[in-house]
Amino acid sequence: MPSSAILLLEQDPATAEIVRSVLGRVGYQVNLTEDPEEVFRRAGDHVLVIIDAVRGGRTPVEICGEIRGTPALAAVPVLCVAQTEDVEERVRFLEAGADDVMVKPFDARELEARVEALLLRFHRSRDLAPAVVPGAAGPTSRRVVVFFSPKGGVGTTTLAVNTAVALAERRPDRVALIDLDLQWGQVATHLNLRPSQTIGDLARDEQAFSEPELMRTYMQRHEAGLAVLCAPQRPDQAQLVGATQVAAMIESARRAFEIVVVDGGSTLDERSLTLFELADAVIFTVYPEIGALKALHSLLETLSDSVATGSKTSFVVNHLFAREMLKVRDIENTLAARISLEIPYDPVVYLKAVNEGIPVVRGAPRSGPAERLHRLATIVGGEPAVESAAGDAAHGRGRLGGILKRG
Ligand SMILES: Nc1ncnc2c1ncn2[C@@H]1O[C@H](COP(=O)(O)OP(=O)(O)OP(=O)(O)O)[C@@H](O)[C@H]1O
Ligand SMILES: [Mg+2]
Repeated sequence: MPSSAILLLEQDPATAEIVRSVLGRVGYQVNLTEDPEEVFRRAGDHVLVIIDAVRGGRTPVEICGEIRGTPALAAVPVLCVAQTEDVEERVRFLEAGADDVMVKPFDARELEARVEALLLRFHRSRDLAPAVVPGAAGPTSRRVVVFFSPKGGVGTTTLAVNTAVALAERRPDRVALIDLDLQWGQVATHLNLRPSQTIGDLARDEQAFSEPELMRTYMQRHEAGLAVLCAPQRPDQAQLVGATQVAAMIESARRAFEIVVVDGGSTLDERSLTLFELADAVIFTVYPEIGALKALHSLLETLSDSVATGSKTSFVVNHLFAREMLKVRDIENTLAARISLEIPYDPVVYLKAVNEGIPVVRGAPRSGPAERLHRLATIVGGEPAVESAAGDAAHGRGRLGGILKRG
């Protein structure tokens, strides 16, 4: 497929012909399809997707939303064609994540100009962000993935636990989950484990920190095929574990398992800083609320460049409430980073999962949340995923702008 191929979803042959000839004149190859499913299959091979009128069950707005919700297609811009002058229609497209909207009937020069501008914008941001979310090293390489949020109670443990369980189901006995939310960690609760040994016990066994096989004896096996190192049962035991122990523990686990998932909690200290530096991937749980975003913004400002703007960092929005409070686009502008994935709200499944100790991916495997959590596991597990725009290093992150500049 030439690098100038554009995919057009169109049911009207006359419009298809116009688009083809206008864009063909300036060197683009326009591939036509009437089938939305084909768009999902083939979009990744194109530099741009244009969505016009479609037949069948799904509306163009829904199709656009689904493309934008597919991490693997995050780097492909979407240009939508509104059928009327109605502002509402255009707003719906933009809310669904369209990168640009054109109104029908459109002028040939306008089509050409919009396509050129969109591609220029996307290429520029791609050049700034060559990195790929955790998976860059390939599915079999060993990696440590840390989940963290400067704000507590936003679903960090939910994401870490479900990711680890989904990965363990795919690679039994080759995945570990470590609860480094040392004071109040609840990984054991999420997995209904009653640990006989915890990190608190491990902390008293110096040798076990650096001996992978000894360390394993402090882990609990979850039925998904997951090895779990639980947080101490009492908060005062947290002080037994310092940054040096964290480093030794992580390196041992890395030697013993293909993937080590860490619930990093929400406390910033020497231990978490060590964790960020050692991790191959850091995933920040983003709670779409101004206070939480401010906290995350200041955290990123304090971290070293390799963590704050480096390719190992990704952001996952967790929608803890039914209403969408902030737009993902605004969050991305604020953080100067691309959101890799959104985890949907659900009034029941997450709560039930914690109360029963059966993670969503096992207890409600066919639910929408489970589908997204599996995608998260796929990204973490190293299968090709999203391009991250986290490295907006050229501009720096000093932009406490946009939605944070309120009032
Ligand atoms: N997308 C969601 N929709 C609805 N409820 C959710 C969602 N994600 C998580 N929850 C619920 O929110 C609560 C907090 O989740 P969780 O314990 O994972 O957060 P945390 O950030 O680890 O909290 P803590 O700081 O206490 O460790 C749980 O009851 C969980 O079931
Ligand atoms: Mg937690």
